[in-house]
Amino acid sequence: MPDPPRASPRTAPRVTPARVISIAVPGTVPGTECRVVDSAQRADRDGPAYGRLHAMAGTAGYGEAAEALVAQYESVTFDEVHREVLHLFPSEPSSVLDIGAGSGRDAAALAARGHRVVAVEPTTEMRTLGRSLHADQDIEWIDDALPGLPRLSARQPRFGLILLTAVWMHLDEQQRSAAMAHLAGLLEPGGRVILSLRHGPVPEGRRMFPVTARETVALARRSGLHVVHHARREDPHGRPGVAWTCLGLRLCAGGGTCPEAG
Ligand SMILES: C[S@@+](CC[C@H](N)C(=O)[O-])C[C@H]1O[C@@H](n2cnc3c(N)ncnc32)[C@H](O)[C@@H]1O
Repeated sequence: MPDPPRASPRTAPRVTPARVISIAVPGTVPGTECRVVDSAQRADRDGPAYGRLHAMAGTAGYGEAAEALVAQYESVTFDEVHREVLHLFPSEPSSVLDIGAGSGRDAAALAARGHRVVAVEPTTEMRTLGRSLHADQDIEWIDDALPGLPRLSARQPRFGLILLTAVWMHLDEQQRSAAMAHLAGLLEPGGRVILSLRHGPVPEGRRMFPVTARETVALARRSGLHVVHHARREDPHGRPGVAWTCLGLRLCAGGGTCPEAG
């Protein structure tokens, strides 16, 4: 099915101090625009890089490097990337959502294991390459993005497993909080989320934020998800200074806030 029409990019408005402004960045979908908070004031305080960072979309840098990145992502296997959490993936055929699916490596592996897989990927070039590379697998590709996943959420789907591999660091603090609540709302009773948090230097031209296990666990508990796995590991691609936290989360019985929430 063809992708729905995208929001037409427009020129970034002038930034005014003490205001919150939404900017439609080329390559974003409606509802996922960057928010610039007091950027003129902060640019004075923190230097011009602050304003530039916040005016970038989380997808910045992926489109132009898509071919090389797809080759890199496909150079490791699903089993290698997820070796510590393989026991958390459903053993019976289930509905699986892979958010920020990139090349589709994980979506394809999960489809090959008999799961019904939806792959969300907002970067057109990545989605196009991934769809073609894994055309032999039954994967539904959707052009959508966190935090709200507006196109997917409109269908009110439910998933037994949601996978976010190397995506969470693209969201700022407000987006992470909103996204966690959305994820919980997309889970079947007892459903799981497996997500990885990137630690280390930010590659040139990308938009990433520092993310911690502590904050992510607190957000999860507030959204009714409790931790079933928490581990740190080295980078599967061997990049210097890069490490990952891998979290497994499960929707608490009865929904609402988990008892351990602080
Ligand atoms: C580091 S890649 C990871 C790709 C794949 N999950 C993997 O592990 O190989 C991050 C992906 O997240 C996507 N992305 C960036 N911002 C996003 C957002 N707000 N919502 C969903 N995906 C996003 C990018 O387009 C990119 O494909």
